[in-house]
Amino acid sequence: MKVQILENKTAIGEAVAALLCDAIREKPDCVLGLATGATPVPTYDALAAAYQAGKVSFRRVRSFNLDEYCDLPKTHKNSFYSFMQVQLFSRVDMDPANVGFLDGNADPAAESARYTAAIEAAGGIDVQLLGIGRNGHIAFNEPADAFSQESFRVALTESTIAANSCYFDDVPMPRFAITMGVGLILRAKRLILIATGESKAAAVKAMLEGPVTPQCPASALQTHPDVLVFLDPAAASLLKQ
Ligand code: PGA
Repeated sequence: MKVQILENKTAIGEAVAALLCDAIREKPDCVLGLATGATPVPTYDALAAAYQAGKVSFRRVRSFNLDEYCDLPKTHKNSFYSFMQVQLFSRVDMDPANVGFLDGNADPAAESARYTAAIEAAGGIDVQLLGIGRNGHIAFNEPADAFSQESFRVALTESTIAANSCYFDDVPMPRFAITMGVGLILRAKRLILIATGESKAAAVKAMLEGPVTPQCPASALQTHPDVLVFLDPAAASLLKQ
């Protein structure tokens, strides 16, 4: 895993967006794995700016998002689908037909099979963007007894509910989500994980310096041959080197 520490989240967003723009220019129909949460927002801002400056086009880009809430309409303002519309898709020339999303209201087993098949039919994910939870989760893969494989319906932990409840002001935060499994995430050709802020420091240390264990789902990235980790000084503050 290659680790880069940059001065702040804006610098990280620009660096990651530059890598994604390079990937798109090299392969205009490349397949991006996208993430939600506060962490990737500076990256999406920089991608929108690059598009608006005429430096890149998303016209042929295909995307798959990591996860979605269950039991929440897709068009609800707090769905991850809505988040992606606001933060990226509406700001660039992405074709809605090229946007892949897990359906949190479908039968989970059938939906999982559909999503894996759709990713495979697209030729696999070229670059997967990831954040990390305070408990070491990636997407909604919470600490568990075994690494998950394909997409599945998951009960969210109290830690995750506490971190995200603030975004739900009209309906209670959903207690379940559907998420790509760790095995499916690791099939991406390249992974880019971003962590910013002191609240992520312990999880970052466990991911990079701890054992590979499903108790820290992000530690599975140690087994992937092409991982870039971008940290700010606060998120890197507990690392030995
Ligand atoms: P955050 O979430 O970017 O909102 O901190 C990251 C995650 O939980 O994966």
